[in-house]
Amino acid sequence: MNNDHEKENAAIASLDYVTHDCILGVGTGSTVNYLIENLDRVKHKIKSVVSSSVDSTRRLQSAGFIVEELSTVGKPDLYIDGADEVTHHLHMIKGGGGALTREKIIANASQKIICIAHSAKLVDILGKFPLPIEVIPMAKSLVARELAILGGQAEIRHDFITDNGNIILDVHNLKILNPPDLEKKINNIAGVVTNGIFSLRSADLLIIGKDQEIEKYNKE
Ligand code: A5P
Repeated sequence: MNNDHEKENAAIASLDYVTHDCILGVGTGSTVNYLIENLDRVKHKIKSVVSSSVDSTRRLQSAGFIVEELSTVGKPDLYIDGADEVTHHLHMIKGGGGALTREKIIANASQKIICIAHSAKLVDILGKFPLPIEVIPMAKSLVARELAILGGQAEIRHDFITDNGNIILDVHNLKILNPPDLEKKINNIAGVVTNGIFSLRSADLLIIGKDQEIEKYNKE
């Protein structure tokens, strides 16, 4: 099914939350690409922009924005990004595009996080989408064994190196019934840079494009 109009509607709806003098964090992925395409509409409100990937940086620059370093702009007022799966609790799986580490850094630095997504991304329980984990290359076997103990089957993402020079393990068959607990456990495995569960710092607002409508869910 083609969800492009739902993605674009969600991205456009998020522009309402860009306030004057906004330091804006921009995520990565096909939904965010619609955000970048439409960002011109609120350009006058944006003080500075930080980006979560080389790809988004390139797109932002092509759209006429100067992309700054997170460490120089201070705390972003708002971070807008997509998700691979998101629950009604606004817990997310991210990293389908491999940009999870920079995404998690900007998300944790930001005042407010908005997740934009099409309707098929909304799920009751996380885990049908294989969980992306960024791993230091030499630790891949160790990490895969530890993940097996947690019930997951890790598969190396072939021909893929992250913007930080690491590999991605996509982990199948994890039952993510308690996202904060599993997020912490995976973070504790030596060699894991970041895992794609975003629950310790989840989204504050979820904007879903559904058919021609927009649905919004706030953090409880
Ligand atoms: C990038 O690493 C991901 O976290 C994306 O945010 C996520 O995969 C959503 O991408 P789409 O908007 O392309 O579905």
